[in-house]
This record gives sequence, structure tokens and C-alpha cells, in this order.
Amino acid sequence: MIKSGGRLLSRAIIKIPATSTRQASTALHFYQNRQLELYASKETKRLTLRQLVYFGRSMNEERLLKSANYVRTELPVRIAHRLRDIQALPYVVVTQEGVAKVYELYWSAFEKFRNYPPVTTLEENEAFCAFIATLLNEHAPVIPSLSLGLSLSSHYLPPEKLDSFMRRMLISRISRRVLAEHHIALSETFSGRGRQTNGEPHVGIIFTGLNVKRTVEHCAQLLKESPLWIANSSDPSENISRYHRPDVQIDGHIDTSFAYIREHLEYIIFELLKNSMLATHAKHHRGPSLPPIQVTIVAGEYDVAIRISDQGGGLTNTRNQVSKPSDLFSFSHVRNAARLEDSRIGALRTASASEQGLRGTVDEQVGRWQRAQAQERYDSTSNHTQAFHPRIGIGLPMSYIYATYFGGKLELVSLDGWGTDVYLRLPKLGTNLEGIEV
Ligand code: COI
Repeated sequence: MIKSGGRLLSRAIIKIPATSTRQASTALHFYQNRQLELYASKETKRLTLRQLVYFGRSMNEERLLKSANYVRTELPVRIAHRLRDIQALPYVVVTQEGVAKVYELYWSAFEKFRNYPPVTTLEENEAFCAFIATLLNEHAPVIPSLSLGLSLSSHYLPPEKLDSFMRRMLISRISRRVLAEHHIALSETFSGRGRQTNGEPHVGIIFTGLNVKRTVEHCAQLLKESPLWIANSSDPSENISRYHRPDVQIDGHIDTSFAYIREHLEYIIFELLKNSMLATHAKHHRGPSLPPIQVTIVAGEYDVAIRISDQGGGLTNTRNQVSKPSDLFSFSHVRNAARLEDSRIGALRTASASEQGLRGTVDEQVGRWQRAQAQERYDSTSNHTQAFHPRIGIGLPMSYIYATYFGGKLELVSLDGWGTDVYLRLPKLGTNLEGIEV
């Protein structure tokens, strides 16, 4: 159900209050809409990875406060653009379960940022970091909520419109979280409370010598320990035993390292390896052995390329219900029929309603699942799906969005009947601006 809460604007208002309060509320809407227009008319100040590293490298109080005030003034502009995007959707989509929830969250965050006073001291910066950390938590269910809302609205939007809307929403969300988390990490380092990073050099959330092979190995190891449900099942009894998961072999330029956001690279590699493992298991589990997944790393002049090859039978088969591989990135049921499957909608509803959403790094998600599983051994009523959402179907589109945020690429090549090659290319110089959609 949509909540008017005095915020949903013109077309989206469904509850008109009685006369005197109606006048006050109309004036309020008018004022709030004016503010929104003001912010939405500003251009976003897009950054490169290199700028984020250089600015954060030699930190002092003045620079930290500058960083805080950049986040304080930039985020409401980015949110205002996206609120405008939601308002431009047909009414039936705006009022859809999930979309309405995100709209409310964004209005609330927009108002809070707009009214947040300038940050002028280190103490004020501490409070500002706590403020953005709270918002980051509150926004954890945004992706499943949006995916749920847009899946349910799939009949009302042409696929190209639906996908470009989702792309803007997701790129922009990633960008806001990067700015917020980077500032929090810089502040922690400055105050001597830096995170555990196993001694790997980093500036804020950017790892300046991110080793690609080690990242692949780490994700492969996590996948040995995480749930992997057979094909489209979410039945825990169908979790594939860790002894029936294919090995991951790595070759190429195995010493490659570059500056990148570790969490983003891990997310993509984890999702791609997971898909390869599932497909390989599905095709070969009755055979004598599982063919390994081959990962090849190549350090080019401008980018780092990673190819993941499996022998899982390819992509354009009946299981995937798409006619070309890139349709797997789509949120529209017209391109990807699986979007409207009952089990997916159900899993999205669970994720959207849970406070966790899809929060955290892949390590944190797998850790949560392990703890829930251990708990389940003692308490048969606990629900492991609260901790790890199976078959939600957004890992691949999200990987695409992460890959392209700083101008990288993700391509799927299906050798139907044999296997899939995935090509991930990430710019290694850090000179690309964030995507135009932020
Ligand atoms: C989001 O996660 O959607 C955000 O916009 C986060 C930001 C408010 C800090």
C-alpha cells in the first residue's frame, strides 16, 4: 500500500485530507516540490576513482571536512534526480508494492540531507558519519524492493524503458553508497579506527593494489562454504554438497593487481562463479566428475580482463528462458520470463521486507548464512532464507551494473550445448568518470 505521508506528489497523492489540513498540505507539497526541482535542476559532480584516491591519500582535518560537505551537498542532488525519475513513471508503477517504499525512503533521505547543517569540526563529522551510516542501513532493502516493484510492473512498461529506469536507479544508488562509505572509511582511518584489511593498502574503500587472483580464490573458497541450491530450487535440502562443486582453476597474468573497490570486484566474481558452479553441477552431476571452471586474468594496457569459462551447457536453454544472453541482465519479463516466477517474487518479498535487504559484502552475507544454519541445528523453526536469499535473480544484472559503473564491461558468450564464457573488463587507470546516470 502507498503511504501518502504528506510527501507523495501531485499524481501520486491518493488520500486527500479534510479542508483546512488540505490547504496546509497542498502548500507543503508545493514547497517540497519546489525544493525537489531546485536540486534536480543541478548537475551531479561526477568523480573518477583516481580523484577519490588522490583526495583521500593525504588526509588532514580540512580535507576531511571538505569530503563531508561534498557528500552532504552532493547526495541530495543525486537523490533528487532519482525522485524525479520515479515521479515520471506511470501511476500504476509508482503505487506498486516496493516502488512506493523506495520513493518514501528517498524522500525522507532527501529531506534529511537538505536540512543537514554544514560540517565544520571533527566532532560534527563523527555525528555526520553516524547519520550516513544509519541511512545506509535503512536503505538496505532498496534493491529487492525495487526489483519486486518493477517485476510486478513489468506489464506496464516497455522493456527498454523499464531497464533504463532500473539502470539509473541502481547506478545512482551504487554511486551514493560509494561516496557515503568512502567518507566513513576515510574518517575511520583519520581517527585511527581503520578497518581490518589484512594489511592490504587502501584509501577509504578503494584498494590500491587489489590482487585479482587472490580475489578469485577468496570468492571460490567462499562459494565452497555458501549455500548453492540446485537449479531453481530454494529448498534447503537441495543445497548442493560442497563435495559436488567444481574446482576453480586460474591462469594468465596471475600477478595482476590494480586500484579498485574490492567489494565491487568480489560481488561480480562471486556471482559469476556461482552461476558457473550451478550450471556445471546441473549438466554434469550424474557424470564421473565435474569439469573445472577456468578463470583467465589478463592485464591489458588500459584494463584488466577476466574470462570465466565453464562447461555448464550455455545460457540460452529452457532453464534460463531467454533468447539472447544479454537478456539475462534485463529486469523485464518480456526479455527474461523468469522475472515473474512465483518463487522469485516470493524471495524478493522476503528480502524487501527484511531489514537486512541484501546488506553487506559477500563475506558478510555468507557469514550470516552460516550463523543462521548453525542456529537452525538447535532451533528447527529458524528460517535460513532470512539470512541469504536464494534465487532472487538480481546477481547477474547487479554484476553488470557494478562492472559498468566506472566504464567497465561485462559480456556473456554462450556456446549452447557446451558452456559459457563471461568476459569482465574493468578500467585499470581509474580515469573514467562515474556513469552518466548517477
Ligand atoms: C541508498 O542506499 O539507496 C542510498 O541512497 C544511501 C544514501 C542515502 C547514503
